[in-house]
Amino acid sequence: MLEINNLSVEVQGKTILKEINLSIGKNEIMVVFGPNGSGKTTLIKTIMGFSGYNVRSGEIIFKGDRINDLETEERVKQGIGIMYQHPPKIRGVRLAQIAEFLSKDKAKNKELAERLSLTEHLNRDVNLDFSGGEIKRSELFQVLLQDPDFLLLDEPESGVDLENISLMGSVLNDYLKQREKSALIITHTGYIMDYVKAKRGCVMIDGRFWCAGGPKEMFETIKEKGYIKCTECHDKKRIE
Ligand SMILES: Nc1ncnc2c1ncn2[C@@H]1O[C@H](COP(=O)(O)OP(=O)(O)OP(=O)(O)O)[C@@H](O)[C@H]1O
Ligand SMILES: [Mg+2]
Repeated sequence: MLEINNLSVEVQGKTILKEINLSIGKNEIMVVFGPNGSGKTTLIKTIMGFSGYNVRSGEIIFKGDRINDLETEERVKQGIGIMYQHPPKIRGVRLAQIAEFLSKDKAKNKELAERLSLTEHLNRDVNLDFSGGEIKRSELFQVLLQDPDFLLLDEPESGVDLENISLMGSVLNDYLKQREKSALIITHTGYIMDYVKAKRGCVMIDGRFWCAGGPKEMFETIKEKGYIKCTECHDKKRIE
């Protein structure tokens, strides 16, 4: 589904990502860990093709085609969807209007809004004065209506209470399972792994992937020994 070869990315004249390699297949979920400022969000913004994220070398291949030179809009049309770490607020646009734009299936929109406890929010401006957890549910709502084949989720459970993590996790898991979709999920807390079946995890430190393996096992090691242990790992291997 997604293949990244030798990707180096510069932002504001500084190299943030350094020779990244990554491969995520159909129906596969990969979890990315890593300390603050290590380049995780930069990676997914680069995959989306946002301006300011300048690819200096390497290629991004999606469904077999090189997408380096495609505009973000084209990448979305090809089937890539993003859930932002810091979602935008859109004054003057109601959540219902975005929902109608993303999906013409009114029954599906209504059902998903109900499932994510967003029915009352549909008539409000997108994310404006929503609580932190409501913003995350609204983001999940929007990205799932878009029906992407490949989801980029940047800390989906950050700031979300345990009950709502469970709600979001089960909605997400149903979507991924029923539709054989793929995802790259960035997480600091690891909670999302209780709901979606991720077989692989990897650690990004200072713009490089250092280690790959079973995500739950990796997370336990990080909790116990810190990220520094990842850079010392003797089983260090490329993650493609
Ligand atoms: N548009 C930008 N302009 C300047 N610096 C940027 C920009 N985007 C990212 N950076 C810098 O690149 C580095 C990596 O940032 P990034 O947001 O990718 O980190 P992260 O791994 O997602 O961290 P966190 O866990 O805190 O979300 C940081 O030092 C950040 O300040
Ligand atoms: Mg980030």
